[in-house]
Amino acid sequence: MNVAIIGSGTMGRGIAQVAATADCSVKVYETNPEIIALSQSKLAKIMARLVEKGRITNEQAAQIQANISYVDSLKDLADSDLVIEAIIENLDIKKAVFSELEGYVSADCILASNTSSLSIASLAATCKQPERFIGIHFFNPAPLMKLVEIIPAIQTSEAVTQKAKSIVDDWGKLTVLAKDTPGFIVNRVARPFYSEAIRQYEEGIADFATIDWAMKELAGFRMGPFELMDFIGNDINYTVTETVFQAFFYDPRYKPSFTQKRLSEAGFYGRKSGRGYYNYAEGATKPEPNTDQALGQQIADRIVIRLINEAADALYFNIASKEDIDTAMTKGVNYPKGLLAWADEIGIQECVHRMDALFDEYHETQYRCSPLLRRMAKREEKFYG
Ligand SMILES: NC(=O)c1ccc[n+]([C@@H]2O[C@H](COP(=O)([O-])OP(=O)(O)OC[C@H]3O[C@@H](n4cnc5c(N)ncnc54)[C@H](O)[C@@H]3O)[C@@H](O)[C@H]2O)c1
Repeated sequence: MNVAIIGSGTMGRGIAQVAATADCSVKVYETNPEIIALSQSKLAKIMARLVEKGRITNEQAAQIQANISYVDSLKDLADSDLVIEAIIENLDIKKAVFSELEGYVSADCILASNTSSLSIASLAATCKQPERFIGIHFFNPAPLMKLVEIIPAIQTSEAVTQKAKSIVDDWGKLTVLAKDTPGFIVNRVARPFYSEAIRQYEEGIADFATIDWAMKELAGFRMGPFELMDFIGNDINYTVTETVFQAFFYDPRYKPSFTQKRLSEAGFYGRKSGRGYYNYAEGATKPEPNTDQALGQQIADRIVIRLINEAADALYFNIASKEDIDTAMTKGVNYPKGLLAWADEIGIQECVHRMDALFDEYHETQYRCSPLLRRMAKREEKFYG
């Protein structure tokens, strides 16, 4: 199968590796020659490491690298069966690429974008055959993260959706189907992980270290919210939050925080800049958390219930199936449990009670209990079984 990748940055490189490992013939179109050289040397290093660890043989490593070639014109992608675009997150630039590309590829070539935040319908609309257009959203790093969100636009044909899904499944990924709405599944449902952590800090309930400790030790997350924001980069994480907020017509539930905006403005991006919520300079000491169990439990419960409420709302609005919502959060961002399964464990009535208690205190819309949870509590229903 002939696959084309447009853009060889963080994501394009990873997706090219995934397709080449699945024995596809992969052509990469990238405008910056330095990035091509970097991509080749990065891939060679990754292959050497995989051989060293015994995961693949020397022959397989050579084959994977031979499966990838670099081209300098979109015309060279004419024989593609599937094109995945992973260039800069800019609607006009992406539209220009697809308009030109469509003039070269065959009528049955599937066109896909790896966009995190743009509407798939708006990209599809630039094509003469919008029914062949779809969102295929990988997570970073693409070769390691199992999850891929498949996002049909309202224009996408059912056949294209099924074909795109089955191709990515054959690449060894776990696909979930998501509606073409801001943040798809993961970037929507995960918002409270950050916002509710920051909110508790802003209220003076606890410091970063204590909130991170509570989420790891008491709720079972691999990283605390502040560690994770520093890892992702506060510039990137802030932009995702702001983009989702704007795309939801400024729904206050998704409102960004001044705390993170200021960090981003100050250049305190996190690990990559040496300072974020924490100081990463050599010799800097990490602050100690307050390990008071009752305080920690209260902090963790508040973030977890908001995540559960967001997941329930995503199901309520038919963004995805309950199974796909739970899979997306456990495989896309390594949550310790599926949020809807977690709701069952806590008890749906208890979930409603916790949301109502927050709403009673604050009267802010992010604390509004999902109508789905309320309905289920009345009927004594569970998400599973
Ligand atoms: N980084 C992530 O964590 C992540 C995760 C999921 C999805 N995405 C999405 O993937 C896309 C790419 O993100 P990234 O982080 O890999 O970006 P990046 O900046 O690392 O890479 C983009 C690459 O595209 C190249 N490029 C720009 N314009 C081009 C053009 N017209 N033709 C060909 N190449 C061009 C650039 O030279 C660069 O190498 C974006 O839409 C982003 O929203 C990113």
